[in-house]
Amino acid sequence: MKKILVTGGLGFIGSHTVVELQHEGFEVIIIDDLSNTTIGVLDNITEITGKKPDFHQIDLRKKKEVTTFFDNNKIDGIIHFAAFKAVGESVQNPLDYYENNIGSLVYILQEMRNRKLDNFIFSSSCTVYGQADELPITENAPVKKAESTYGNTKQIGEEIIEETCKAHHLNAIALRYFNPIGAHDSIKIGELPLGVPQNLIPFVTQTAAGIRKELSVFGDDYPTPDGTAIRDYIHVVDLAKAHIAALKRLLNKNNKQNFEFFNVGSGKGSSVLEVIKAFEKASKKPLNYKIVGRREGDITAAFADTTIANKELNWKTEKTLDEALSSAWKWQLKQS
Ligand code: WQD
Repeated sequence: MKKILVTGGLGFIGSHTVVELQHEGFEVIIIDDLSNTTIGVLDNITEITGKKPDFHQIDLRKKKEVTTFFDNNKIDGIIHFAAFKAVGESVQNPLDYYENNIGSLVYILQEMRNRKLDNFIFSSSCTVYGQADELPITENAPVKKAESTYGNTKQIGEEIIEETCKAHHLNAIALRYFNPIGAHDSIKIGELPLGVPQNLIPFVTQTAAGIRKELSVFGDDYPTPDGTAIRDYIHVVDLAKAHIAALKRLLNKNNKQNFEFFNVGSGKGSSVLEVIKAFEKASKKPLNYKIVGRREGDITAAFADTTIANKELNWKTEKTLDEALSSAWKWQLKQS
């Protein structure tokens, strides 16, 4: 049974990916520093799959702890989620983001190089495209200067991986996520934003649950049909399955280059107002919101051209926006 290390495996996307890995018969080892999740997620994963993943609480900024882990564990593949991911916070604390997001990546890649380990999947983001010149966004779209430190850590991360693959014959895939939302069908795992949610969907569900007074819609003066910004919202379970597809591509040596990257989205763009309307339908609850000014750094529109991911990964989304919103709402109701 292949043993797969999932860093950040108790996080939102990480936990859903661990469940899919276990469903596929992989043995999973999780490293998480618990800085943005809770240990209870480990039990929730175990409840879903009936198999408790091996768990190590490790701060990947500590090189010695990373080395010791690899001394004691033979790994067949790595899915690297562990990173700080709050866009606004990253601009206030750039050095903490570079230390964690880049530092931990370098330490893991050094262990892979030193021990001739292979098969590395990197959690990247459509943020690398900034405001793309053409929509839908293909993998040929140029990477633009990042608007935030968070986005820059993803761009730099991809460059580090590409150069490492070239120099040390490592095989790696970066998955450029669009906007992950929703919760597992079991409603035992989902998005656990600590503090005031930065992202749209958790803020919507917390508003509907009465935890937040109202949702602020950041701008309705964008050049879009209804004036609000457009994003590609992908169900987190579909996104998790894209990681399995990418891992299998590497394990089966079907990759065409040492370093590859794919856009992982639904391929459908939805405006903020469209999401609100869909949520009200899914939750059967009117949402309290007001239009305010644009948020610094936001782009007008982004949605994926999924042609290459569909073909090369033999993967496509199966769930709809309505299903994602409905699962997000059911997950929220379980929290209260
Ligand atoms: C979506 C839309 C907001 C909150 C970021 C990162 C990306 C990934 C996902 C980590 C935008 C609007 C939001 C609110 C609003 N991050 N909005 N009111 O900014 O597209 O992407 O998060 O993995 O890499 O860049 O996601 O959910 O913050 O915003 O009107 O209270 O909702 O303006 O148009 P974003 P988001």
